[in-house]
Amino acid sequence: MQVDDIPAVVELGNMLFTAETSPTLYRCWEEAEVLQIYTADKETCLVATCHERVIGFALGSLLEKPGSSWLYGWLDWLGVDPAFKRKRVAKRLTRQLQERFVEKGVRIMLVDTYEGNRNAIAFFRKFGFGQGIRHIYMSLNLDNHPKAIERKFMNDPGD
Ligand SMILES: CC(C)(COP(=O)(O)OP(=O)(O)OC[C@H]1O[C@@H](n2cnc3c(N)ncnc32)[C@H](O)[C@@H]1OP(=O)(O)O)[C@@H](O)C(=O)NCCC(=O)NCCS
Repeated sequence: MQVDDIPAVVELGNMLFTAETSPTLYRCWEEAEVLQIYTADKETCLVATCHERVIGFALGSLLEKPGSSWLYGWLDWLGVDPAFKRKRVAKRLTRQLQERFVEKGVRIMLVDTYEGNRNAIAFFRKFGFGQGIRHIYMSLNLDNHPKAIERKFMNDPGD
């Protein structure tokens, strides 16, 4: 991936990662994150192109866990233009990323996705990922907290 590819990657990601496909708020697809991942680890950010148009991407980053000497390779974001789906674009991107991770000394490659993202889970399983761990994200609406009510009143006493 080159810096010039960033707008095309962001645009494709905006189409793929919507509130329906990525309903959790704990990680959001946005330009700033693409820039951050790219700046940190350029060599593990890959694009697939067709006639010089970006049709897929794999954005990976290196991760060191405190207390562990192992280096992890995180496949943060993987996306393929729906017009090119099931043409092994994701497989080739992930395989290339895997090779780069190995070259950098990575021992374990990690991915995560929303449990309802069946396509991605099918892809990851087929690729060889396993040992899935369930993780629960919970939320608490703070609209009725006394301080939130007070704030609302201060901002708009007429309400
Ligand atoms: C998931 C995704 C990356 C797969 O891309 P792709 O290029 O179509 O996948 P590939 O052609 O490389 O698939 C390789 C194998 O994975 C499996 N697979 C891929 N997509 C699948 C699907 N929708 N249903 C079932 N199996 C699937 C198949 O075994 C496939 O091999 P086959 O076509 O010979 O049966 C793509 O659908 C996508 O961009 N989804 C939206 C973004 C997303 O959810 N990203 C992952 C989380 S970051």
